[in-house]
Order: sequence, then structure tokens, then C-alpha cells
Amino acid sequence: MLHVPVLLEESLDFLLHDLSGTYLDLTFGRGSHSQEILNRMSSDGSLHAVDRDLEAVSYGKDNIKDSRFNIYHANYSEIDSLFTKHQFDGILLDLGTCSTHLDDPIRGFSFQSDGPLDMRMDTSSGIRASEWLNSASEKEISDILYKYGDERASRKIAKAIVQFRSIRSIETTIELTNIIETVLKRTGKIHPATKTFQAIRIHVNNELHHLKIVLSKLHNALKVGGVAVIISFHSLEDRIVKNFFKPVIEELPKDIPINPSIKETYSCIKKKIKPSKNEIKINPRSRSAVMRVFSKL
Ligand SMILES: C[S@@+](CC[C@H](N)C(=O)[O-])C[C@H]1O[C@@H](n2cnc3c(N)ncnc32)[C@H](O)[C@@H]1O
Repeated sequence: MLHVPVLLEESLDFLLHDLSGTYLDLTFGRGSHSQEILNRMSSDGSLHAVDRDLEAVSYGKDNIKDSRFNIYHANYSEIDSLFTKHQFDGILLDLGTCSTHLDDPIRGFSFQSDGPLDMRMDTSSGIRASEWLNSASEKEISDILYKYGDERASRKIAKAIVQFRSIRSIETTIELTNIIETVLKRTGKIHPATKTFQAIRIHVNNELHHLKIVLSKLHNALKVGGVAVIISFHSLEDRIVKNFFKPVIEELPKDIPINPSIKETYSCIKKKIKPSKNEIKINPRSRSAVMRVFSKL
């Protein structure tokens, strides 16, 4: 299944304020946003795209043949050379995973299909979910499940994981799903493994750390008047974005010293945009999306 883009129209309406400008898509995925940016842009515009996933980058190289387009394999928090080489009119961050990650059992993101327990977005670096689960302490596992998955049964699940691995190591997605199901029974629509898989994915990819780093670098990469459009998929991401831009989102009492320089650097164009009822109906995955838009002063 192809990745269905979220808030496509709304994000590009804010991002593309100059059709002959230079743009940066930091989360290329399967390129629906990038493709639409190219469709709307004039012939003298340019688009640079980044993804830490090698398959996403290959997909971009194979499918977008356009002289205005360049794509790079990189982590968006580590692309200072690109940031210093260009000044961008707009930067897009569409956070989280692609549905293509979930759909491919080999990537190990899905608790519904059997595959190696990997979950790395960048398969060329970092440690696999299985390596982490087989070596972390029970407390570390429990803390991660609670912190990144809001999993109330985090302690019980961590205990069951450690018990299992004392007999043999955990190597596959279904082994982990089965371990979780020994502790948590399915109630309602949400599968009991949902929160654990989300937490491990966020941890293995160090997602929140990279988000904090890239936010702190955006202002150097944007032109004056340049726009940053950020789409988050869960409250942990949105909280980081909201806190980073807090001084421009809200009028704060003068004695709160959070990022005081941000107030002189950005203005808030849109506080919070949610997908329409219609979009949620067509693409239920979009229901948790929140978009925020800022412009560099
Ligand atoms: C929600 S998808 C983006 C979908 C895309 N807008 C589209 O239309 O197809 C997020 C993408 O960001 C990538 N990604 C996540 N964290 C990243 C990071 N730190 N650096 C670079 N790419 C990252 C993921 O690999 C994934 O392909």
C-alpha cells in the first residue's frame, strides 16, 4: 500500500509562498509531499529532500526524474552542510513513520506480520529492536514502554520479556507480540502490542532527540520570511514542537525563561491545524496529526 499523505493541501498552501523558491522536504517518505511541491512550483524553483531510510531515498531517485529535485540519504538532525549551503524559503517536517514501514514485514515495525524485530528507519546504522530488547535491563525496558508508549502495563511486559529471554533471545515481531499477549488481553479495537511497538520504535530510532536537534537548527537554514511547516503524529512530538516555539505561540509572563531568543526569531502563522473530518474518514491514520506553521522574522 502506498503512503497516503496527511494534510497535503493545507501544508503546501503555507509552505509554498514563492513558487520559484528553494524548498526542503526533510521527511521524503514516498514523496507525496515532494511530488506535489514539484507540481506546484515553477520551472526555476528547486526542491531538496532528505530521508534516513535507504528505501525511501531509492524510491525518490527511481521515481522522481526532475532537474529541480535532489534527494539525500541522511538524518535530518545531521545535515549541517546542506543547511549552510542553501537558504530555504520553506522547510517541511512530516514526522513519524511511513505506512510503507508498517507494510513490509522485513522491516520489523508491525506486530501483525512476522518478521525480524528490527524497526530501524535507517538500516545502515544503529541497533535493531531485538538487540536492544535482549540486552537492556528490565527497568530500562519498563521505563521506555511507559515514557514513549504510555503503557500502563510496562512493568509486567518488561518482566515477561526478561523471563522469555532467559530461555532464548527474542528475534521476531510475532515473538514479541506473543509475549505481550501473555500479559495483556485484547480489549476493544486497540491491539495490546500497539503501545509497546510504538515505544520501542521511538527509542530505537531516537526520534525525539533528533527532532529537538533539527528544530534548533531550522532558523539557520531558513531565509527571512521562510516558513517551517511541522506535522506531528503523537503528543510526544507535538509537545516538543509546542515547547520549542512556546514563546511565539503564547504570550508568556516575562519571568518564564524558555527559549527567549525564539520570540525574536519566529512568528507563529498557524497555532494548530487538524485534518478535516473528511480526511480522517478517508485516511483514519491522519486522526492524530497536528500541523503547526512558523515563519522566520
Ligand atoms: C510520515 S513519513 C513522511 C511521508 C511523506 N511526507 C510522504 O508524503 O510520503 C516520515 C518519513 O520521515 C523519515 N524520517 C523520520 N525521522 C527522520 C530523521 N531523523 N531524519 C530523516 N528522515 C527521517 C522516515 O524514514 C519516513 O520516511
